[in-house]
Amino acid sequence: MMKKIAILTSGGDAPGMNAALRACIRAGLFHNIDMYVVYDGFRGLVEGNIHQVNKDFTQDIINRGGTIIRSARMDEFTKLEVYKKAANNLKDFEIDGLIGIGGDGTMRGLESLSQLGIITIGIPATIDNDVGATDQTIGFSTALNTICDCVDKLKDTSGSHQRCSLIEVMGRYCGDLAMFAALAEGAEGVICVEHPLNEKVLFRKLRKMKAQNKSHAIIIISENLLDINDLAKKIEQDTGFDTKTEVLGRLQRGGSPVALDRILAARFGARAIDLLLEEEPTSRVVGIKNNHIIDYPIEEAIKMEHVLESGLRDLIDMLQ
Ligand code: F6P
Repeated sequence: MMKKIAILTSGGDAPGMNAALRACIRAGLFHNIDMYVVYDGFRGLVEGNIHQVNKDFTQDIINRGGTIIRSARMDEFTKLEVYKKAANNLKDFEIDGLIGIGGDGTMRGLESLSQLGIITIGIPATIDNDVGATDQTIGFSTALNTICDCVDKLKDTSGSHQRCSLIEVMGRYCGDLAMFAALAEGAEGVICVEHPLNEKVLFRKLRKMKAQNKSHAIIIISENLLDINDLAKKIEQDTGFDTKTEVLGRLQRGGSPVALDRILAARFGARAIDLLLEEEPTSRVVGIKNNHIIDYPIEEAIKMEHVLESGLRDLIDMLQ
């Protein structure tokens, strides 16, 4: 039976990471486990920045954005000599199980550690919603709401000037933020990996809108796909729409988590502790599928691809 469990947060921070941390710590303490946190993600693990915590540590963090134990990106964690050091630190602290809260990079880091005999549990938390083992990651709902707040505000000014607004959102290479934001905002267009740019169709539509004297047009675009300033120039030349670009950037990652993310965090955290308390625990990734909390062996989970909800593309096209 496990006696000591440590938790870290890694990769880009996501709203709800603190709620997940709280759930893990409280569930662990409930089962009389000694709970530890690792500051600064995998880097902190390599440096031995590991500290025991009590229930007070989790006071008033459920509603806080970011992560109070900080996060980091550590590309070198793919090297055996680096993650061996991390595994040895855990062994020195006599820590039996490690929970990692983060995105797909975090899951891969945990899998490396599990190859060295550390029992690891992954809790998917990233605004990108790009973890294959789950329908939804912690942080996605909050980021989507933040995007909608921003687009609502942009609509006011866009409509006042009869402009076309190109709004770039995050997601790395996953179109979920763009697609769901487009659906929630009734955007005139969306461009992402799963719904690539079709200049002919988009420009024709914008020309028609301009001819009908429509007040404005909103196009949501995923990051890492194209230069939105180049596209804005082309739209202006081709359609006559005064076109402005907005990159929402990291403000999409901030803010207090919405209730859905806090609840997901509670459910994932409790399952993570349950898995570690099994008689013969193994390394796993938790997730939610069809509203059921599930888990997969970590080596399977890291190979799973996140797929766009079926029918979403058609729904967006139909309602545009
Ligand atoms: O993975 C979350 C995310 O916000 C992505 O959407 C984005 O591409 C990336 O992190 C940016 O990371 P950083 O803040 O380290 O530049």
